[in-house]
Amino acid sequence: MTEIKKPGTNAEKAVENALRIARSEERPVRILFVCLGNICRSPAAEGMMQHICNDMSPAQRPELDSAGFYGGHAGELPDRRMRMVASRRGLVLTHRSRKIHESDFDYFDLLLGMDDSNISDLHDLAPTPEAECKIARMSDFAVNYQYADCVPDPYYDGLDGFENVLNLLEDATTTLRKLIISE
Ligand code: 4NP
Repeated sequence: MTEIKKPGTNAEKAVENALRIARSEERPVRILFVCLGNICRSPAAEGMMQHICNDMSPAQRPELDSAGFYGGHAGELPDRRMRMVASRRGLVLTHRSRKIHESDFDYFDLLLGMDDSNISDLHDLAPTPEAECKIARMSDFAVNYQYADCVPDPYYDGLDGFENVLNLLEDATTTLRKLIISE
């Protein structure tokens, strides 16, 4: 398996666990990207991962979704600023915001939080210790940004913040893809 060069993280283990579950059920791995509002970071992660996995066979291509803890933007498209910067990179973001539910731990094999608060909320929501093994931090896959310990919330930032999010996500999704195809 491809090595993730961020020591002391559980990211690689969580992916191995997810791939093992998916393999045992003879289906592609299911990944949920999680942030607060589900209008900036997690729908961008979902759209970017979808984009770079398009060339994979249907049997291997991961099933993707995103969700947020806030819920106040439910039903909305991603933030206009995120859609704009994403479109410059060839990404069309069409996800509709939704709130995360405890049952997401039953359906998804891997739940990737963007920051400390998301990770802590995911641990609080996880119904069992096995469910907690499905949680990992998105920035742990960003191997070219060794010191990034989160994908920071860009909501109150300028466009630079949104570009920074996409740079981190590009790196992290590339690593995730490698891990999935190297199984
Ligand atoms: P996201 O950004 O968690 O990356 O979707 C946010 C979007 C909206 C809010 C907070 C963060 N909000 O408080 O409305």
